[in-house]
Amino acid sequence: MPDLFVDLRSDTVTRPTAGMREAMATAEVGDDVYGEDPSVNALEAEVAALFGHEAALFAPSGSMANQIALQLLVSPGDELLCDADAHVVTYEIGAAAAYGGISSRTWPAVGADIDPEVVAGMIRPDGYFAVPTRAIAVEQTHNRGGGGVIPLATLRDLRGVADEAGIALHCDGARIWHAHVADRVPLIEYGRLFDTLSVCLSKGLGAPVGSLVVGSAEKIERARLIRKRMGGGMRQAGILAAAGRYALAQHIDRLADDHAKAARLAEAVAPFGVLATTVRTNLVALDLTKHTLDARALAAAARAEGVLISVLGPRTARLVTHLGVSDADIDRALTALPRILAAP
Ligand SMILES: Cc1ncc(COP(=O)(O)O)c(C=O)c1O
Repeated sequence: MPDLFVDLRSDTVTRPTAGMREAMATAEVGDDVYGEDPSVNALEAEVAALFGHEAALFAPSGSMANQIALQLLVSPGDELLCDADAHVVTYEIGAAAAYGGISSRTWPAVGADIDPEVVAGMIRPDGYFAVPTRAIAVEQTHNRGGGGVIPLATLRDLRGVADEAGIALHCDGARIWHAHVADRVPLIEYGRLFDTLSVCLSKGLGAPVGSLVVGSAEKIERARLIRKRMGGGMRQAGILAAAGRYALAQHIDRLADDHAKAARLAEAVAPFGVLATTVRTNLVALDLTKHTLDARALAAAARAEGVLISVLGPRTARLVTHLGVSDADIDRALTALPRILAAP
C-alpha cells in the first residue's frame, strides 16, 4: 500500500528495510556494557577502520556522540568554536554547557563556506584573563547549511589552524557519508583530519538507531566512561549494531540516488526564487524571504497535497530525500510544490 504522504521532512524518518530487519533478527548479541556484544564490537572496529582511527564507540544518538566527543576535547569552563548554525549549538538543547560546562563561541552562519582565517582569528590563547579555546567543531555535511559539503582543502586548512594553535578539531559527521559520495573523498581522508568524529547510522543510511564516536584508543576509552555517565550504556545493542553494519554495507553508494532526487526538487523550485543554497547532497534548503508564502503556509499547503516538509524558521523550510522516497514520490512532490509556489 503506498504511503499517504511523501515524507520529505528528514532522513531520520526512514524505516528499516526487510534486509536490515533480517540482519537485526539474526544478530549475535551480548552485554555491551561488559564489552561482550560481538555485533557492537564488530561495528566499532569497522567504523574505526573506515576513518583510519584506532577505535570507535557506539552511542544511542548523534547528539550523544557529539557531546561525548566535545567533553573529550574541551574541559569545563574552556571554549569550543563552531558556526552559529551548527547542530551542536542549535539542536542539542544546550548540552555542551549543561553536561560539559563548555563555553561555546560561534562564527557567523555560513554553512559549508568556512573561511579558516576567520576561525583562526577567533582562537583565544591560554591565559588568566580569557576563556581558552580548546577545540573547533565543523559539520559535514552542513544541516542548516542546506547539505553543503565543506571542501577537503578547507578542512586541511582548518587542520593547519588547529595544529598551529595546539587545539583539537571535531567533525559532526552525521551525514559525512553524503559528503564522501558527493565529493568522492575517501572516508579515511576525512578521518585523518580530525581528532574526533561523530557519525550517524540513523540518518541517510537508514538504520533505526545509532551513531559512533571515532578517535584514538585513549580517547575512546575515556568516551566509554562519559557515555555511561550520560546514561548511554546499552546492553544487547547488537540488534542495533547489526542494522548499522547492514546500512554501511548496503546504503552508502545508493546515497547518489538521494542526491539526484534532491537535485530534481531543487531544479523545480529554483524558478520561484526560494532556493537558499546550491544543492549538493540530500537536503534542499528553502529561503522564503522573497516569497508571498511563509514557511508554515508552504508546509500546510504541501501537506494538503500529500507532501510533508520541515519548517526550520519563519521563512526557512527544508526538503530531504532518503531511502523511503521513491521516484514516484518525487514525481508527486514535483507536481505539488511548483503549483503551490506559483500561486500569487
Ligand atoms: C548534523 C547533525 N548532527 C547531529 C545530529 C543529531 O542526531 P540525533 O538526532 O541522533 O541526536 C543531527 C540530527 O539530525 C544532525 O543533523
